[in-house]
Amino acid sequence: VTNSDTTLETSRLVLRPPRLDDAPSYALGIGEYAVARWLTAVPWPYTLAMARDWLSRSATRRPHEAIFIVELPGRGVIGSVSLVKELGFWIARPYWGRGFGTEAAEALIAWHFSTTDADGIGSSAHADNHVSLRVQEKLGFTPIGRELRFARSAQRDVEHVVTRLTRADWGARP
Ligand SMILES: CC(C)(COP(=O)(O)OP(=O)(O)OC[C@H]1O[C@@H](n2cnc3c(N)ncnc32)[C@H](O)[C@@H]1OP(=O)(O)O)[C@@H](O)C(=O)NCCC(=O)NCCS
Repeated sequence: VTNSDTTLETSRLVLRPPRLDDAPSYALGIGEYAVARWLTAVPWPYTLAMARDWLSRSATRRPHEAIFIVELPGRGVIGSVSLVKELGFWIARPYWGRGFGTEAAEALIAWHFSTTDADGIGSSAHADNHVSLRVQEKLGFTPIGRELRFARSAQRDVEHVVTRLTRADWGARP
């Protein structure tokens, strides 16, 4: 299952496939260092060309991998949530702290578990990314280890907490 034709709606958000014309708002959101610094695979400075390249490639994903644009109706693109090896997410800085990150990730996870037979989802965060680790905790993820990974934006090895959400833990959520 890919998300090339899937749109997910939550109470406040729409998660939909990326389009090339998302590139300017995508680059604006992820290009802010306060966002990019935590995203291990994302280079910084982040250019419009990088956004166009990423968004055009993200239309052709293999099964079990998905990239959604997070749209706040009336406001446009406010972030992205993805499952490419691991769950990843970012929300543009003006929209932090309103539950949007958790709400978007929840929708992707629910869709993933309902359309695949995967028994779990992995994620991770810089060990000092307390907000992401809190979001992951709210989603039911558990830390399973620590490792050094090279962070492109920071250009150095950064200690990461590696986490996992099992289908059983997801199902057991209140
Ligand atoms: C991580 C991110 C997506 C969170 O988005 P968001 O919409 O602000 O998240 P939510 O509002 O759903 O939840 C944030 C939680 O962190 C908590 N929080 C905020 N600041 C915190 C801090 N300094 N320490 C611990 N928890 C904190 C909030 O209180 C909230 O938890 P609560 O619901 O229990 O109160 C957003 O901050 C972001 O894009 N950051 C940069 C990119 C990033 O780190 N992505 C994840 C990479 S692993």
